Amino acid sequence: MLPEHAPFTTDQRKTLDFLIASLDPVQRGWLSGYLAAGAVPIAAVAAPVAAGKLTVLYGTESGNSESLADRSVKEAKKRGFQAVMKNMADISTADLAKFTNVLVIVSTWGDGEPPETAIPFYKELISSRSALKDLRFSVCALGDTSYEKFCQTGKDIDVHLETLGAERVFARQDCDVDYEEGYVSWLAGSLIALAPAAAAAIHPVAYTAPASSGVEYGKKNPFPSEALDTLVLNGEGSAKETVHLELALASSGLSYEPGDSLAVVPVNTPDIIKALLQAAKLKGTEEIEVKNVGRKLLADALREDFDITALSRAVLTKLAEAADSATLRELLGEDAKERLKDYNDGREIVDAITDFAPNGLTAEALTGIFRKLPPRLYSIASSPLAHPDEVHLTVAAVRYETNGRSRKGVCSTYLADLVKSGDHVAVFVQPNKNFRLPADGSTPVIMVGPGTGVAPFRAFVEHRAALGSSGKNWLFFGDQHYTYDFLYQLEWQEHLKNGTLTRLDVAFSRDQPEKVYVQDRMISQAKELYAWLEEGAHFYVCGDANRMAHDVHEALISIVENQAAISREAAEAYVEALKKSKRYQRDVY
Ligand SMILES: Cc1cc2nc3c(=O)[nH]c(=O)nc-3n(C[C@H](O)[C@H](O)[C@H](O)COP(=O)(O)OP(=O)(O)OC[C@H]3O[C@@H](n4cnc5c(N)ncnc54)[C@H](O)[C@@H]3O)c2cc1C
Ligand SMILES: NC(=O)c1ccc[n+]([C@@H]2O[C@H](COP(=O)([O-])OP(=O)(O)OC[C@H]3O[C@@H](n4cnc5c(N)ncnc54)[C@H](OP(=O)(O)O)[C@@H]3O)[C@@H](O)[C@H]2O)c1
Ligand SMILES: Cc1cc2nc3c(=O)[nH]c(=O)nc-3n(C[C@H](O)[C@H](O)[C@H](O)COP(=O)(O)O)c2cc1C
Repeated sequence: MLPEHAPFTTDQRKTLDFLIASLDPVQRGWLSGYLAAGAVPIAAVAAPVAAGKLTVLYGTESGNSESLADRSVKEAKKRGFQAVMKNMADISTADLAKFTNVLVIVSTWGDGEPPETAIPFYKELISSRSALKDLRFSVCALGDTSYEKFCQTGKDIDVHLETLGAERVFARQDCDVDYEEGYVSWLAGSLIALAPAAAAAIHPVAYTAPASSGVEYGKKNPFPSEALDTLVLNGEGSAKETVHLELALASSGLSYEPGDSLAVVPVNTPDIIKALLQAAKLKGTEEIEVKNVGRKLLADALREDFDITALSRAVLTKLAEAADSATLRELLGEDAKERLKDYNDGREIVDAITDFAPNGLTAEALTGIFRKLPPRLYSIASSPLAHPDEVHLTVAAVRYETNGRSRKGVCSTYLADLVKSGDHVAVFVQPNKNFRLPADGSTPVIMVGPGTGVAPFRAFVEHRAALGSSGKNWLFFGDQHYTYDFLYQLEWQEHLKNGTLTRLDVAFSRDQPEKVYVQDRMISQAKELYAWLEEGAHFYVCGDANRMAHDVHEALISIVENQAAISREAAEAYVEALKKSKRYQRDVY
């Protein structure tokens, strides 16, 4: 039997217990040792067994699923699989029929949608009726419990593969932002389920940190980067607060390309911690145990280790138990989904503790409801050629008021309010292969980046200038007011003067009675924009995903429809083809 504390879901536990029963005693010995170790990374194997063909199919937006797919292929090869990795962007549902064993790793974006590049595959799969009787699969779904449609894409793909007759060999693993432990146990379980003989080849070897002489910085070990400079980009009188932050990367070993993001590991600010301690009726001087960290003062753990703000069903479920609240249990009921959604809207954990734990909580009960504090991504706003050993960010401070409380975004206000020159910020690079300048420097580019969406285009233009690329560059920028919010205005003017920037079209939404947005500027320049596309231009969009990216997409389709004088369907196909050929790329959030 599987050790009780091994980190598997009930379904996975059942599958594994069944598989373990079918192994010989030696295999069983190895396996139970490995599984008991739980999150211990799979390490070297003695002799690979022939375990068959395996396709690791991933769908990603910010690269997590891709890096897990890469790790899965390497581990599978060690256990004797002939493993390859495939991007959902590059295959069709018909290809699935050619595979026998598939591990799917896919994230969810937007409001429960697939990653941008996986959308055609996803749509095709959901509407497919072709039987997949010979396919065996398991799904690892990446997501974030603070979103209502947690891991929706992985859930949909899991259900549809089964509907088409494929055999689920290991139960789906839904992972929150801190996915390491769930992923490792899912991979181990799935590989064993696909080829039980491969279990014999698993040796539980403890993870060893890299030698201290060559410290490796990255996601598991963020680099403490020194803040070199911070500057508020908006003028006095602006309703916005956008901070330009310059960080040092010297001796970090970290490198990036324009289009990549920087992940920042924030700390919670003192006022958020104070409000929470008050609500929970605690002092902060209590000592607690933090998993994988050790014993700490509660106040320090609230600052450094836990997500103490984002309210979700997962948090409320744990709070209902910790506070033994019947009212909250009722709100979590199947028939109260709409009421729960209304409650969560505009509220944070501090509100829920006030409402459902009026007598307070013990320090252990309080920290038991939290997940790990997740890093936040910021589009890199600098070219490494223009700023060697540095990385620059453009951060909009999130501040708003709901339910009678003023709120602050954790990471953006940590960077805007707390970080001063000389301080250190924990960071790592999150590569984004789906947002890249054209390989050929003579290709024209069109960039649409209102607000903080302009960040990667500062990097693009600097990079092309540094490379001496001959391609034309056209930027559409928008924000509220010309006087206060023209981010990097002097730099754009300089680029225009020296010819690096060929065209700049701006839309200041609140400088006149009618709103004017970047897509309005695109439409008024439709003829030229279409001519650039016909010349082979690449089209980029960055910034708000909720409204802007959708409206810009619609504007692009209508420009093609009118300028090419073709039907709406043909224009949609033209834009789809741009996407498919990687000439239309988006970095939206
Ligand atoms: C690939 C990528 C690139 C990004 N690039 C940038 C960038 O270049 N610059 C940048 O500034 N950001 C960027 N972001 C967004 C950034 O990662 C953070 O999401 C943002 O800074 C907010 O984080 P926070 O910790 O400050 O806020 P959080 O503590 O995470 O709070 C944000 C949450 O607050 C709530 N909220 C916010 N405003 C309101 C409101 N008005 N009313 C009610 N609720 C509200 C929402 O629930 C929202 O999800 C990027 C995101 C991604 C994924
Ligand atoms: N997903 C998110 O939660 C998310 C995404 C992006 C930004 N934000 C938040 O918004 C704040 C500022 O963000 P930001 O500086 O990047 O700028 P922004 O809010 O995206 O605004 C930039 C410009 O875009 C305009 N705009 C609004 N709706 C648009 C649409 N449908 N199409 C085209 N343009 C549109 C805005 O006009 P008006 O303001 O006049 O309407 C403004 O002129 C921050 O607090 C940030 O956190 C949140
Ligand atoms: C703008 C945005 C929207 C997201 N929407 C969802 C969502 O609806 N449901 C969910 O479970 N996770 C959501 N996520 C979380 C991602 O799925 C998660 O960060 C995942 O690790 C990303 O993996 P990837 O890098 O492979 O794309 C969202 C993340 C961002 C930044």
